[in-house]
Parts: sequence; C-alpha cells; structure tokens
Amino acid sequence: MSNSEPKISIQAVNADNWREVAKVSVSDAQTEFVATSTYYLALCCYSDWKPLAIYLGNKVIGFLMWGIDDDKSCWLGGILIDQKQQNKGYGRKAVEAAIELLQTQNGSKEFSLSYQPENIVARHLYQSIGFVETGEMEDDEIVARLELD
Ligand SMILES: CC(C)(COP(=O)(O)OP(=O)(O)OC[C@H]1O[C@@H](n2cnc3c(N)ncnc32)[C@H](O)[C@@H]1OP(=O)(O)O)[C@@H](O)C(=O)NCCC(=O)NCCS
Repeated sequence: MSNSEPKISIQAVNADNWREVAKVSVSDAQTEFVATSTYYLALCCYSDWKPLAIYLGNKVIGFLMWGIDDDKSCWLGGILIDQKQQNKGYGRKAVEAAIELLQTQNGSKEFSLSYQPENIVARHLYQSIGFVETGEMEDDEIVARLELD
C-alpha cells in the first residue's frame, strides 16, 4: 500500500503562512453560512479566538479557529475548506485532527460549535463526528456539543 498520499494536518497560523490562509475561499452559495478567511484572521487578532491552518501535505487548504468560552468548553469556529478541496473527506479529517490536537495541547474534553440550520453539510458532518444538538441557539445558529471520555 502506498503512503505517498498527502496527509491532513493542523498547524499554527504564522508570518509565513497567513497569506495562504487568506486565499482560502468558499463558493458564493456558502457565503451565507460563513465569513471570509480574512475576516476570521482579523477577528483572531482582536478577540480570544485563536487561528489554525488546515494543511494537505504542505499546502494550506483550510482554516478553523478555537477558543475557550465561559462555559469552559472549547469552541470551534470559522471552519472552512477551500471550495476546490471540498467533499473529499478533508473537512472530517481536519475537525478530528483539531479535536485531537486541542485535547492533547489543552486537555480539552468538551467541544462546542454552532451552525446555520440550513447548512446541511456541516450539520451532517458534525453529527457524524459525535456532536449532539443540545437545543441551545447562539444567535440564529444551532449549538452542538461533543463530550469525550
Ligand atoms: C462544511 C465543510 C467544512 C465540510 O468540509 P468537506 O471537506 O467538504 O467535508 P468532507 O468531504 O469531509 O465530508 C463530510 C461529509 O459531508 C458530506 N458532504 C461534503 N460535501 C457535500 C456536498 N457538497 N453535498 C452533500 N454532502 C456533502 C460528505 O459526503 C461527508 O459525509 P459522509 O462522511 O457521511 O460521506 C466544507 O464543506 C466547507 O468549508 N463549507 C463552507 C463553509 C462552512 O459551511 N463551514 C461550516 C460552518 S459551521
């Protein structure tokens, strides 16, 4: 079996890669669900959100950010896979890799996120990873939470 297929990894956003992160874009139809990667990068400069780059091999293909909320859970947000790389299984691997990293790095065992009710791809993805809708809403978004053992 070949091991040459590029792997998904999560890496810090820094002076060397932020321009690549800023190029990550979604389709026009998806802009109703998320802001742009440049907006999220700016948000991370002026809030408690922390940015992470999603790599396929040595190429940036996506973005996500995280932050610990007052409820002590680790929130994931701004999850983007570039439109040219979607529906190839990378979003799933990236979210799973981010959870593993943040569990190892911060000891996080409770994760939370939110999404628009109409975002059926995101909803399906998060539910299949194990996120459970709690009935809470964050603005107009459904909140789902994951508790690890
Ligand atoms: C949501 C998003 C991060 C998912 O990443 P992705 O790499 O496209 O997703 P994956 O390829 O890992 O697929 C995850 C699941 O969704 C399904 N899926 C992905 N794209 C799909 C599409 N366009 N239509 C239907 N199903 C789709 C896959 O079949 C897979 O389901 P399965 O594992 O049961 O087969 C990505 O589509 C994206 O960036 N969307 C725009 C921004 C956004 O909405 N972000 C989430 C905000 S909460």
